[in-house]
Amino acid sequence: MVKAAVLGAAGGIGQPLSLLLKASPLVDELALYDVVNSPGVAADLSHISSPAKVTGYLPKDHGLRNTLEGADVIVIPAGIPRKPGMTRDDLFKINAGIVRDLITGVAKYCPRAFILIISNPVNSTVPIAAEILKAHKVFDPSRLFGVTTLDVVRASTFVAEITGEKDSRNIVVPVVGGHSGDTIVPLLSLAKPPVSIPEDRLAGLVNRIQFGGDEVVKAKDGAGSATLSMAFAGFRFAEAKGIVEPSYIYLPDVPGGDEIAKAVGVDFFAVPVELGPNGVARATNPLETINDDEKKLLEVAIKGLRTNIDKACKMKISLG
Ligand code: NAI
Repeated sequence: MVKAAVLGAAGGIGQPLSLLLKASPLVDELALYDVVNSPGVAADLSHISSPAKVTGYLPKDHGLRNTLEGADVIVIPAGIPRKPGMTRDDLFKINAGIVRDLITGVAKYCPRAFILIISNPVNSTVPIAAEILKAHKVFDPSRLFGVTTLDVVRASTFVAEITGEKDSRNIVVPVVGGHSGDTIVPLLSLAKPPVSIPEDRLAGLVNRIQFGGDEVVKAKDGAGSATLSMAFAGFRFAEAKGIVEPSYIYLPDVPGGDEIAKAVGVDFFAVPVELGPNGVARATNPLETINDDEKKLLEVAIKGLRTNIDKACKMKISLG
């Protein structure tokens, strides 16, 4: 029996993500939480002929507690999205507070659940979540994930557009680092199967993977950022088990993670992760064989990540 909970379920990501979870045969129970409209979204989804029983809660009447109790997987896309001209970091002030409050609920009501954080800036919201869980003495780094799957999904899609591969699912590109702009490091030299990108298109491709989210923000012209592709990516990660998916995690205390943390000099970092019944079974290190161009990208990413992680830790103090 699997109970999944979506926090921020009435939003642009929350609704299609909840639809995918409702349609999944792996989910028995689906609890939706938002500050608006979650009972409506739940009523709508409950008419779909699939096994999952759907409930929707608002903050009143212990809504967060009812959503979280007994949950195995919590997916969090709550928070404001970007508008044109904004970076993910511009969302920090508001979303940090939202994530802090929701994770406090998780710590109280379902501390053993897998927590999948989508709310941006992921580079900072995941460290904030870790701090809150630590403060409640329930932090398990094997169960806290920043969802970076969209970067991997975009990398496959954009590479396939160049190579002419008809089904982009056949191309797997590891993407490491963080989840914003130049903290995103696609390791094209490690693509499987190997891909050959013309020299004059390489820089453009890397830039498109790093800043692909901006294409959507611009096209939506003030109506938000990626929601449907994110729902697809979030669901792919929520459903993943026993397979390797990159994800932004706290490395030092997970199997295989400590040596990567020492090599990159930051504790939170996205790497391909083997997922097992207890969460991270192993963090894998793809960095030993990367080429010189990728090493340069990595250096820039680490600098940016360090700033994002420090900011999260400082913010936690002022949040109290
Ligand atoms: P949205 O504004 O459409 O939806 C957000 C939802 O969160 C709304 O329904 C809102 O009512 C709800 N919400 C706000 N405060 C809440 C609280 N305290 N408790 C529960 N729910 C609350 O935004 P959208 O487009 O769904 O994006 C959500 C977040 O996901 C943004 O921060 C965005 O930047 C991020 N995102 C992350 C991506 C990733 O790859 N990790 C990709 C795309 C977006």
